[in-house]
Amino acid sequence: MIETRGLRKSFRSRAGRQHKTVDAVRGVDLDVAEGEIFGFLGPNGAGKTTTLRMLATLIAPDGGQATIAGADLLRDPAEVRRRIGYVAQGGSTWDDSTAREELVLHARMYGIGKADARRRAERALAAFQLTEYADRKCKTYSGGQRRRVEIALGIIHDPRIVFLDEPTTGLDPQSRAHMWDEIRRLRAEGMTVFITTHYLDEADALCDRIAIMDHGEVVAEGTPTGLKREISGEVLLVGLDVATTGQAAQLLDTEPYVAKLETVDGGGLRLTVDEGATAIPQVLRRLDHAGLALNSIELHRPSLDDVFLTKTGRSLRES
Ligand SMILES: Nc1ncnc2c1ncn2[C@@H]1O[C@H](COP(=O)(O)OP(=O)(O)O)[C@@H](O)[C@H]1O
Ligand SMILES: [Mg+2]
Repeated sequence: MIETRGLRKSFRSRAGRQHKTVDAVRGVDLDVAEGEIFGFLGPNGAGKTTTLRMLATLIAPDGGQATIAGADLLRDPAEVRRRIGYVAQGGSTWDDSTAREELVLHARMYGIGKADARRRAERALAAFQLTEYADRKCKTYSGGQRRRVEIALGIIHDPRIVFLDEPTTGLDPQSRAHMWDEIRRLRAEGMTVFITTHYLDEADALCDRIAIMDHGEVVAEGTPTGLKREISGEVLLVGLDVATTGQAAQLLDTEPYVAKLETVDGGGLRLTVDEGATAIPQVLRRLDHAGLALNSIELHRPSLDDVFLTKTGRSLRES
């Protein structure tokens, strides 16, 4: 659905007499498959919005190429525009118009006839659970309601792909969860969704695949699970009494699924394994068989922040 090669963008700004160049996007290669939720994860200033605005034909790249929904970004931007939807970070609804008016207007701007535009608005209001507020001015909506209107606007013309720039930033936890459901529904309907976020949990829970961006470059790409597994195995903490720890260590050290075994001060073992979910029952069986009682077993999986830390030397949570 999206293929980019070497996409670049610099901004020249002037502070007094000094000219400064910011390399906002420095050669980005992306491959996004049809029907997936693809996430762009990175701290503020990483270049997410700039990339999205290039893909949505709002600003011209300085270099590189891209094909979006089968249309060439540089040679045929008008066709790209017809095939995509775009919802800006700050949104695009007017305070004094109603959701219904906005939806009809947007549809009309895409050249859709009056009757069809009204039908589409009606359908969008129902799908996004906005019918109740349809005739109230946008300025009276909650953050979550307004964001749903904006997304409904972005897809009123049935695009094959929609770009959502930080769709949940500033929403309360409940509205965020609601927004995730809406985004999953779009995927279920066959749409490709490209979202940007600086929330680790959002990238983890919502996205099928992600690209982690930092300082204008993609530093890692893959499924959330794959990325986490790549940097280190999963860790099992096996709680044991001091008296049984030594024997348990001997038993488990030779097991093929144990990549690394360390004893914990005060009793217990720390096992690095490829996959905790399959290792747990094997550990339990092995210990049970030998008549060794364990007090607890905990699975620790590396987080996307661990991935970010490994790739950039900084924590995303802090930056
Ligand atoms: N129009 C602009 N003029 C000058 N600098 C810009 C402009 N837009 C973005 N930048 C700079 O480009 C970098 C990337 O910004 P942006 O793409 O908005 O990042 P993100 O969306 O990941 O927070 C930042 O350093 C930002 O200040
Ligand atoms: Mg941004």
